[in-house]
Amino acid sequence: MDFEKQLSDDIARIEQALEAYLSGENGEGYDVIFKAAKYSAMAGGKRLRPVILLAFCRMCGGETENALPFACALEMIHTYSLIHDDLPCMDNDDLRRGRPTSHKVFGEATALLAGDALLTRAFEISSANAEKLPAETVLRAIGYMAQAAGMTGMIGGQVLDMESEHKQIDLETLQRLQRLKTGRLIRIAAVVGCLAAGKDDADTLRAAETYGDKLGLAFQIQDDILDIEGDAATLGKSVGKDEKSEKSTFPSLLGMEECKRLVTALSGEAIDAISTFPDSAFLGKLTGSLIGRVK
Ligand code: IPE
Ligand code: IPE
Ligand code: MG
Ligand code: MG
Ligand code: MG
Repeated sequence: MDFEKQLSDDIARIEQALEAYLSGENGEGYDVIFKAAKYSAMAGGKRLRPVILLAFCRMCGGETENALPFACALEMIHTYSLIHDDLPCMDNDDLRRGRPTSHKVFGEATALLAGDALLTRAFEISSANAEKLPAETVLRAIGYMAQAAGMTGMIGGQVLDMESEHKQIDLETLQRLQRLKTGRLIRIAAVVGCLAAGKDDADTLRAAETYGDKLGLAFQIQDDILDIEGDAATLGKSVGKDEKSEKSTFPSLLGMEECKRLVTALSGEAIDAISTFPDSAFLGKLTGSLIGRVK
């Protein structure tokens, strides 16, 4: 199957499953939480993390059906992080995925709860995956995802990000921050994809981690570039926020030209990290397609 077709098939499957996971229940008197969770989760988005998760599973010879609940879980965790990231007490953003942010539509309290709901739903659907995969595998995947999302993962990165507003930080601190804030969820997508295929030998997991780390960094550098050079209508989120909150970013520390060079170099290193897998063509193309992305 060619790259574009595989990508659109994967995204369609992810979106169909996501919708199903967030529907079908009658939240009598509290259905606004289903509405709010779906509003953000079904607003588009590139679906990068779940696509990577399915691709690693496929590349390791697994059944992507078994990986789909984890893929949706990761997308829910990511979506929750965006809802909270946009709140007035954090980045105070009005636009996300081409729509007014959750708190603009539902109010701050419901937006907060929609984030919480997506985060907890992620672990609920992951644990139910023990019907398809060995319980031991599911437990491991859940533990890894929780760690990647939590205090020593994405949350830790968000704290460092907050702490470094209105001040200059050095490159090493910035890299550490970004590795946690953005890198961990991308890395875990790769790792859990392998686990879902039953591949958990040290070499495989190390290659998946390296791929995720390199791509995660390239992805956040490009995110910082787009905050300066991007167009809000295309991006679906506001631009110029980093400068406004005086955030140290890759462009502010390294300059634009060096950032663009780094995105290309790190993407190449990500592709190299998985070159030993029998068929890494899809992930190679996906990684390449993110260089110079405009959204
Ligand atoms: C945005 O993530 C936030 C970062 C971690 C850089 P994405 O660029 O993947 O956002 P969506 O999912 O496509 O909306
Ligand atoms: C947020 O980073 C990353 C998350 C963990 C949500 P940003 O604050 O740079 O993400 P955008 O630019 O708002 O998408
Ligand atoms: Mg932020
Ligand atoms: Mg933000
Ligand atoms: Mg950003």
